[in-house]
Amino acid sequence: MNELDRNKKIIGEEAAKYIKNGMTVGLGSGSTVYWMLKKLGERVEEGLDVKGIPTSKKTERLAKEFHIPLLEFSDIQQIDLAIDGADEVDEHLNLLKGGGGSLVREKIVDAEAKQLIIIADESKLVLHLGTFYLPVEVVPFGWEVTASRIAKLGGSTTLRETNNHVFVSDNGNYILDCDFGQIKEPATLHEKLKLLVGVVETGLFVGMTTNVISTKNGKLIKLA
Ligand code: A5P
Repeated sequence: MNELDRNKKIIGEEAAKYIKNGMTVGLGSGSTVYWMLKKLGERVEEGLDVKGIPTSKKTERLAKEFHIPLLEFSDIQQIDLAIDGADEVDEHLNLLKGGGGSLVREKIVDAEAKQLIIIADESKLVLHLGTFYLPVEVVPFGWEVTASRIAKLGGSTTLRETNNHVFVSDNGNYILDCDFGQIKEPATLHEKLKLLVGVVETGLFVGMTTNVISTKNGKLIKLA
């Protein structure tokens, strides 16, 4: 295991400690969340009573593999805590997410949680968002028009592909990976993008994070 993966494991396993008996937990997506799910599965086997709500089909599969009981939104009173990854975290704890293509479900679950813990290794901590491309989920119909509207806001766009096929999100939509350069006002950019016809959601998660668990030189650090 390389150093990055070791750090992701330390962070993910630490986050699982925040889950208490009786909680309903939003289960985020990504490779750091994998370690949180694995540890949570062990705790469930030891008798912890929790219910999870997954933020992607991949997380749903993993949660089932680790025997974590799952709920549908129709069964949920409240989400006590969500634990999710991120592609970038700025100094105000605003996030850029969606590298794995799960931004819509992540935002629906994370926004509903009373507490949102972000688990992100040191490489994700930045002064300003925007070095990583900004994923924007769009309706497939007329995506070219939506892309040109985004371009008018100053962002270059690339339609996401995997293995030479257009990437389709868990919701049946496309993702435009956008480059706006440094994003100094994420809330403003998010609002402008959301107003465009055809845009479903952006990967900017502004003012949602409660705590961040990360590492510095291989040691755990916590931000709030
Ligand atoms: C998924 O769409 C993303 O928002 C993930 O939360 C993010 O990509 C996670 O990164 P890691 O795989 O490095 O944890």
